Amino acid sequence: MADSTKTAKLTIDGKDYELPIHSPTAGPDVLDIRKLYAQAGVFTYDPGYTSTASCDSTITFIDGDEGVLLHRGYPIDQLAAKSHYLEVCYLLLYGELPSPSELEDFEHRVTNHTMLHEQMMNFFRGFRRDAHPMAVMVGVVGAMSAFYHDSTDINDPWQREVASIRLIAKMPTIAAMAYKYTIGQPFEYPRNDLDYASNFLRMCFAVPAEDYVVNPILSRAMDRIFTLHADHEQNASTSTVRLASSSGANPFACIAAGIACLWGPAHGGANQACLEMLKEIGTPDRIPEFIARAKDKNDPFRLMGFGHRVYKNFDPRATVMKESADEVLELLGVENNPTLQVAKELEKQALEDPYFADKKLFPNVDFYSGIILEAMGFPTSMFTPIFALSRTVGWVSQWKEMIGDPQNKIGRPRQLYLGETARDYVDIEKR
Ligand code: ACO
Repeated sequence: MADSTKTAKLTIDGKDYELPIHSPTAGPDVLDIRKLYAQAGVFTYDPGYTSTASCDSTITFIDGDEGVLLHRGYPIDQLAAKSHYLEVCYLLLYGELPSPSELEDFEHRVTNHTMLHEQMMNFFRGFRRDAHPMAVMVGVVGAMSAFYHDSTDINDPWQREVASIRLIAKMPTIAAMAYKYTIGQPFEYPRNDLDYASNFLRMCFAVPAEDYVVNPILSRAMDRIFTLHADHEQNASTSTVRLASSSGANPFACIAAGIACLWGPAHGGANQACLEMLKEIGTPDRIPEFIARAKDKNDPFRLMGFGHRVYKNFDPRATVMKESADEVLELLGVENNPTLQVAKELEKQALEDPYFADKKLFPNVDFYSGIILEAMGFPTSMFTPIFALSRTVGWVSQWKEMIGDPQNKIGRPRQLYLGETARDYVDIEKR
């Protein structure tokens, strides 16, 4: 926790209270209200935590107005261009870029944990074939706590380390198997001679009947999608993981909670919702109708893939993702794909519309990632599982940081109660 030299004065009913102000290494100052209730007997009210820092962290920094995203200080565009997912995983987990031998060792450790306990296959088989792969992932990741007993003691740093590696290593296997199960194909086991992204593509698209050769451009694009989704500071799913683990719950259960939160259409589910929306629009001539609906206060419809709680200028991940989309579509020769045509025209028309400019609504990362994933051959139902596997390292890094923080205490928000005050029970015959 940064030292506080500044203070703020709060006056309630003529009485003054001094609140320490912490200055971060970057970003706005933070008012420390931890002792407010004890001293002044009041709570603060902030639904959606729009002005509340829930923790201190050294992992990721976002400046939403400037469109800045830094992991351990390194800008996301540099990481996307020069690094790769497993190196970014190392950076997020341990705080520094690895030396060549550290990277080799880390990759080896991840690669050696990619297989699932064979008994876990029964979990997949317990689901209906039409289950959403996110439903399968929530269940199977939660079930890991019943299989890996030697990495559930959160008070043992070694077990925390093993749990972290297991989660990063096994998540692609779980996501790919969830997919294979829902399309009725046999599971493909991981291959440790392939890099992380190629292995995932192979587990999704290989079949026993024929050889599958990974295209290096697609594997690079896949790796970039993983990298761009690796962490995003205290977003809803990460905060869910932190809140779940604040009670001392085991890591696999906490990550399952994060996956459940990510699934929602306002968060990780937006990439699926966005592509479905583009398909529903169908042709560019219908775009004005959908833009009008998005602007209509009486219509709950929103343009999926537009807007962000933090980015109010541009999403730096979207810039890189857009370039990647162009590359992949050209490679696959699908630049004239109708969904893509709608996406490009929608982006243009929305950005020219004062409604979106005034409300600072820009395409977010999900707007472009869905287009790439569809071109690669993934069904929309796999978009959010891919986000979940990418974000696992962020969840795990934030979880490790929290467990190692001596200030860590159970998360327990307060409320502004607006219900009935105490009243006497009325017997049923008198109601
Ligand atoms: N389409 C139309 N209008 C929108 C949109 C949108 N996509 N997003 C926000 N608005 C409008 C709201 O109606 C609101 O208008 P008002 O002030 O007149 O009431 C205003 O913009 C602010 O919206 P909020 O919901 O208050 O903004 P918030 O920061 O809470 O929400 C969110 C951010 C949830 C991402 C929102 O923009 C949204 O629902 N977007 C579509 C879903 C989406 O793409 N989610 C992905 C997020 S990125 C990620 O998780 C990786």
